[in-house]
Amino acid sequence: MPIKNRLSEMQAEITAWRRDLHENPELMYDVHRTAATVAAKLREFGCDDVVEGIGRTGVVGVIKGKTDTRGHVVGLRADMDALPILEATGLPYASKTPGKMHACGHDGHTAMLLGAAKYLAETRNFDGAVAVVFQPAEEGGAGGEAMVKDGLITRFGIKEIYGMHNSPGLPVGHFSIKPGPFYAATDNFTLHLSGKGGHAAYPHRTVDTTVMASQIVMTLQTIVSRSIDPLESVVVSVTSLRTESDAWNVIPERAEIRGTVRTFDPTMRKIAEERLKTIVTSTVQAFGGTVTLDWEPGYPAMVNAERETAFAAEVAAKVAGPAAVETNCPAIMGGEDFAYMLQACPGAYIQVGNGNTAEVHHPEYNFDDEAIPFGASYWAELVETRMPSA
Ligand code: NI
Repeated sequence: MPIKNRLSEMQAEITAWRRDLHENPELMYDVHRTAATVAAKLREFGCDDVVEGIGRTGVVGVIKGKTDTRGHVVGLRADMDALPILEATGLPYASKTPGKMHACGHDGHTAMLLGAAKYLAETRNFDGAVAVVFQPAEEGGAGGEAMVKDGLITRFGIKEIYGMHNSPGLPVGHFSIKPGPFYAATDNFTLHLSGKGGHAAYPHRTVDTTVMASQIVMTLQTIVSRSIDPLESVVVSVTSLRTESDAWNVIPERAEIRGTVRTFDPTMRKIAEERLKTIVTSTVQAFGGTVTLDWEPGYPAMVNAERETAFAAEVAAKVAGPAAVETNCPAIMGGEDFAYMLQACPGAYIQVGNGNTAEVHHPEYNFDDEAIPFGASYWAELVETRMPSA
């Protein structure tokens, strides 16, 4: 069965919601207008329960099927937050707030899940219950973790949970998914290096932080090439290298290095962290400097459960046709905090095609409204297939 006729009919309405969210982007946990809009719509649709303030500004709506003979609850999750980017799309519904922009398509995710919620509340053609989950702070604030810590899974009795993200480059009407590790663990590091500054003409009287920093940057490249099994996937990227001097004739006293480490496997994550710490401290010691090392653990790897992934692919194939569903797509070195929900309960995360648009997090990115019937139908079909009406 292809996309749902009813959701096709609703495309203009869902598009209007999406564009309203696009005009009014909000960051991190400060998604007050978005969360209030979501909660008001869920109540208007006739959800059986609407709870606000889960994980600070998250919203959960509960929709019960015509029957509930199994006591099964399926969670469907969308993210609501935007990014600190100055929009450059020139669209009539571009952001009204300079410096804030829905550049990751979370406006589309929220609108599609609202569309599915409206359809499910109208039809209730399933046996069990659905929890539609709208989370804040996906972009670096661990809003997913905040909702889990606030009892999302236990409080609503969620037995399995599903997530979705749009994917630029994948044609509209296509889906892609893979079992196992899908998105990477994302850890960040900052190194504060101290040496002894002085005149550039007399380097022997200094401890040169520029040379020390350069040595560290190059040696960090050996973590992946020499310490990690070549069959594993790990990234170590230095993204910032600054010294406190802009002059031609001054050796700076201090330097700062920043970067990120991406891994899928917890053992590789540990090896990369330990090697990084050893390289930094021993290099600094060899040069006679000192260092303060800040290691900031980020999101864990997002791991799709086998059974739920196969099921999600089957549902996507019902909506888009088997030829439009890639069931073992490449993993992604980016992070995704749906990882916390998948640690708390089985489930699967899928990508929905956004066509030939700018990449996510780009000032010219835009969610493609033609993807709406596919994404919303996927949600509805997932519920009706997983919990068929008695
Ligand atoms: Ni995103």
